[in-house]
Amino acid sequence: MFDKLKAELDLIMERDPAARSRLEVYFLYSGFKAIRSYRRAHWFYQHDMKLIARYISQRARHKTGIEIHPGATIGKNLFIDHGMGVVIGETTEIGDNCTLYQGVTLGGTGKDTGKRHPTLGNNVLVGSGAKVLGPFRVGDNSRIASGAVVLAEVPDNATAVGVPARIVRLNGKKVVDDLDQIHVSDPVAQEMCRMQLELDSMWKVVNELTRELKTAENSAEDESEEAEDTEEMKDIQESVPKGGERN
Ligand SMILES: CC(C)(COP(=O)(O)OP(=O)(O)OC[C@H]1O[C@@H](n2cnc3c(N)ncnc32)[C@H](O)[C@@H]1OP(=O)(O)O)[C@@H](O)C(=O)NCCC(=O)NCCS
Repeated sequence: MFDKLKAELDLIMERDPAARSRLEVYFLYSGFKAIRSYRRAHWFYQHDMKLIARYISQRARHKTGIEIHPGATIGKNLFIDHGMGVVIGETTEIGDNCTLYQGVTLGGTGKDTGKRHPTLGNNVLVGSGAKVLGPFRVGDNSRIASGAVVLAEVPDNATAVGVPARIVRLNGKKVVDDLDQIHVSDPVAQEMCRMQLELDSMWKVVNELTRELKTAENSAEDESEEAEDTEEMKDIQESVPKGGERN
């Protein structure tokens, strides 16, 4: 039993460079205390003494700021660093050697019944303030960045960041995002451009019609001048006396 305790304390010291001695971890680390309380509460939960189980869990929450439902299933060597604000839901499953930072929620979305909380594989790290919501799996060796909101399955060996979380690293390689977030086309500028093109073609038609109208007016003027000239000629011809005719 003491060997197991010693191993647990050593593991925390290994993962937290700020931890100076086993004694410090044992007496002062809220994550360590919360997990020990959880183990007790979980025993009562499994033996159908759910009220006692919840009592232990709520007392631990009061003392440490970490709420672990006694129904959750937690593997070996879970490390909760700092701890305040961590919530682990009833149907959560956590594999071995996982690390959670402060403010992490392993919860439900409120839409599911039965299994409604996430399952973490082995060696998963969940950064401070991250929310993992829903009954899906976060794969082995995956990392959830601080502040991320994870709403869908995360594969093994992946890094998920952002809200909602997207995979940015898979098996140590950068995942290329097809969408260029910087050079995104501006829909307003595109619309303005389309309107300008339409306006140009309308002006072209208007100019052509004006030109045709002017040509038609000019030719009508010419025709009327010609008709006037012919009329004048006729008058002159009529006024001139015909050959051989004398007054
Ligand atoms: C995600 C994390 C685990 C690093 O994982 P990693 O696989 O080594 O990822 P990288 O550091 O290579 O970062 C991958 C990408 O995610 C980005 N990223 C890292 N952390 C991020 C975060 N919290 N939010 C948004 N983007 C983040 C990086 O800028 C990088 O972007 P790029 O692809 O444009 O280069 C780490 O950044 C993290 O968030 N750790 C939690 C630590 C914590 O909570 N500490 C609290 C101590 S009190």
